[in-house]
Amino acid sequence: MTSKSFHILLCCTGSVACLKIPLLIPALKEKFAGCGIKVVLTENSEHFLNLEELSKEATIIKDKEEWNVWKKPGDRVLHIDLCNWADLVLFAPLDANTLAKLANGLCDNLVSCIARAWDFNARPVVFCPSMNTQMWLHPVTAPQVETLKKWGCKFVSPVVKVLACGAEGIGAMAEIEEIVEAVSQNAPK
Ligand SMILES: Cc1cc2nc3c(=O)[nH]c(=O)nc-3n(C[C@H](O)[C@H](O)[C@H](O)COP(=O)(O)O)c2cc1C
Repeated sequence: MTSKSFHILLCCTGSVACLKIPLLIPALKEKFAGCGIKVVLTENSEHFLNLEELSKEATIIKDKEEWNVWKKPGDRVLHIDLCNWADLVLFAPLDANTLAKLANGLCDNLVSCIARAWDFNARPVVFCPSMNTQMWLHPVTAPQVETLKKWGCKFVSPVVKVLACGAEGIGAMAEIEEIVEAVSQNAPK
């Protein structure tokens, strides 16, 4: 597959690491020249993003768009269309809430419906958790990460940093270069 025909669905959730999205998108564009990027947002991720600026870089799809698109039988179903469009889905940042939802099959918004309708056997998933240290170390987290790994998803480990809460510890989203490299390694050939 050439860069130009490569379609990346970037799903962002309500982590402070969304502040890095304006860096991640150009880095993906540089690595995969001419690729298509659509950014799907949870409602809570919007608190961290300047959508006007971001929309200059990529197509932005808000959560409520699902129900703007579908009004009556016969209308398009956005999460299915997005799954069909994408060659790879990148969950970055993946917060504790959405990680839990994905691992348990919950699908109550656009991001989690995409995950639930995704063909894990056929197409790659890269996920980049980002959360407070205590959230990361909570006993519920590791089995959820393992579940996604068992499904074949590529895990990009969080790193140690001074976090938004002021404490230093594990939980920050991986560096942009590492995420781009993981996408590159897992992109369809
Ligand atoms: C300022 C702020 C920063 C937050 N950062 C994180 C974070 O880095 N990781 C995380 O798992 N949750 C974080 N949260 C909590 C999530 O935003 C919250 O669980 C939310 O319900 C997630 O919704 P979503 O998964 O639908 O995006 C943060 C909350 C606030 C108010």
